[in-house]
Amino acid sequence: MPQLLRLDSSADLTGSVSRALSDAFVAAWTSRGDDHTVVVRDLHRDPLPHFGDPDLHWAPELRPADAAPDPAAVALQEELIAELIAADVLLVGAPMYNYSLPSTLKVWIDNIHVPGTTTTFGEEPTQPVAGRPAVIVSSRGAVYDAGTPTADWDHTVPPLRLVLGDALGMQVDVVTCALTLADTVPTLEPLRERAHAERAAAEEQLRELALTL
Ligand SMILES: Cc1cc2nc3c(=O)[nH]c(=O)nc-3n(C[C@H](O)[C@H](O)[C@H](O)COP(=O)(O)O)c2cc1C
Repeated sequence: MPQLLRLDSSADLTGSVSRALSDAFVAAWTSRGDDHTVVVRDLHRDPLPHFGDPDLHWAPELRPADAAPDPAAVALQEELIAELIAADVLLVGAPMYNYSLPSTLKVWIDNIHVPGTTTTFGEEPTQPVAGRPAVIVSSRGAVYDAGTPTADWDHTVPPLRLVLGDALGMQVDVVTCALTLADTVPTLEPLRERAHAERAAAEEQLRELALTL
């Protein structure tokens, strides 16, 4: 039973591009058969609490001797990690908020990146989701093209690549949809045609990934 874990983090519940593109991925995924299941965690509708204890960054055996994390926070972290490990494919809706991740998605990352549990810390390899696909749907209002002065302003995709790819060992694909504000921001009007083409291309790329991963 191939299982998809879908994370949403857009605060926009009506016109979100990352949600619409993730819908397209899910439609293609479920078209593969009834055995292709989906678990949805909507981090905006159902936000996780603020990450409140640095000891939770570490596997239990790596925590300081006097660590006494809140049992509810431990249970929630264990649930999030179990949900990730149960997934064959991860889909992450990642809008750009102030050049970075929505705080709702950031706290999910803070919970699941745990040396000694989801990433290797000592000699024993501990990377339970290594090799599994992670698809990042990155929506952003403007554009951050390589070779332009704003090229390195994107702090949305790099931490996701570092944590999911480098630390957890997942196979990361990034599908970017830029210029989502081209229809509403007058200064972006000259780029509208490109914006529409980019959105169509992103949707197609996601459909293809969902049918092949
Ligand atoms: C709080 C907030 C901050 C934003 N910051 C940026 C930004 O730094 N750069 C940018 O290009 N777009 C920014 N945007 C625009 C969003 O990235 C854009 O609307 C994108 O489509 C959001 O994803 P969504 O459509 O899935 O909600 C911001 C939007 C919001 C609500």
